[in-house]
Amino acid sequence: MSAGQDLAERFKRIAADAEKAIPTMRQRDALEAQRVHWLGRERGVLSKAIEEIAALPKDDRRVAGKAANEAKRLIEDLIARELATVDGRAMDAGLQETADLTLPPRRPRLARLHPVSAAIRDVSRIFGSMGFETVEGPEIETDYYNFEALNIPPGHPAREKWDTLWISNPLGDDAAQPLLGRTHTSPMQVRIMEQRRPPIRVVIPGRCYRYEATDAIRESIFFQYEGLAIDENLTMSDLKGVLYSFARQYFGGERNVRFRPDYFPFTEPSAEIAFSCFVCEGKDPGCHTCGGDGWIEAAGCGMVHPEVLRRVGYDPDRYQGFAFGGGIERLAMLRNGAPDIRLLYQNDLRFLESL
Ligand code: PHE
Repeated sequence: MSAGQDLAERFKRIAADAEKAIPTMRQRDALEAQRVHWLGRERGVLSKAIEEIAALPKDDRRVAGKAANEAKRLIEDLIARELATVDGRAMDAGLQETADLTLPPRRPRLARLHPVSAAIRDVSRIFGSMGFETVEGPEIETDYYNFEALNIPPGHPAREKWDTLWISNPLGDDAAQPLLGRTHTSPMQVRIMEQRRPPIRVVIPGRCYRYEATDAIRESIFFQYEGLAIDENLTMSDLKGVLYSFARQYFGGERNVRFRPDYFPFTEPSAEIAFSCFVCEGKDPGCHTCGGDGWIEAAGCGMVHPEVLRRVGYDPDRYQGFAFGGGIERLAMLRNGAPDIRLLYQNDLRFLESL
């Protein structure tokens, strides 16, 4: 037998050995290891044998080379076939896995409204049911709309009631019309009256700003809702009816409502609405939430001052109206039992999800 035939025989034996070994493998990894074992470039059993071809006399190389190619193809095909078998088996196993349909589903974590957003929507919905349209207005206001148009000229002591965050205008300050973060939503009373003719019924939720030390019921950035109704023959009893109806719908009758005289320069007469304290129900003189008197001030209100009407060109003998403005966080706190306004803005989901 020539040296070429000799080597060819070796290739055949290697192929036969591989044919026995490869089909016993049950895993992809093991099959990959087989590929390295037989065909690996440096140490593969077949590869090493192939290196010997180069040392053969020229005529022998052809016979040996042909056998080497056949052996190589056979091993490659075998591995490919077995890999397909292994994959097919894995797929079958997957298909046969049965699902236990009685297992409780994994609950998806659904997003939901922040309690303050929910309160804003409720305010819009409830006043909407009484015919009030929701509108919004600018958070940065001029001195005129925030104060002057509301009967609060410069130097008026009532300005002290609203500690103001003044804003400097990067384009240059106008000394006559300084800018500020609106301290309440009341400037929108004036803007709306300037834009529209009676009858008017609007509610304006929005952010307000005050230069204020925070405590359990005060934040320097907070939300208010403003209400305004202008028509012929509106009276204080309309105002009271609307606010009582709101309280009943918002709290479901759970809070007591206190209505008593107050003072605001832009309403006359003026009143204040307070709700009974949900933390102590008036029983704890040291209560941090209500300050111990059992009531939480929730809104200012009153009949729109004739001077305010005159300033926007309305005839106060023909038109009257009422306005109200309250804190939205307080509504959210009162309904959800959140004892401290600051908790609403700390983004602690353990607290927010407990509401
Ligand atoms: N804007 C007043 C405040 O922030 C509340 C108010 C609104 C009072 C409307 C009367 C009428 O205190």
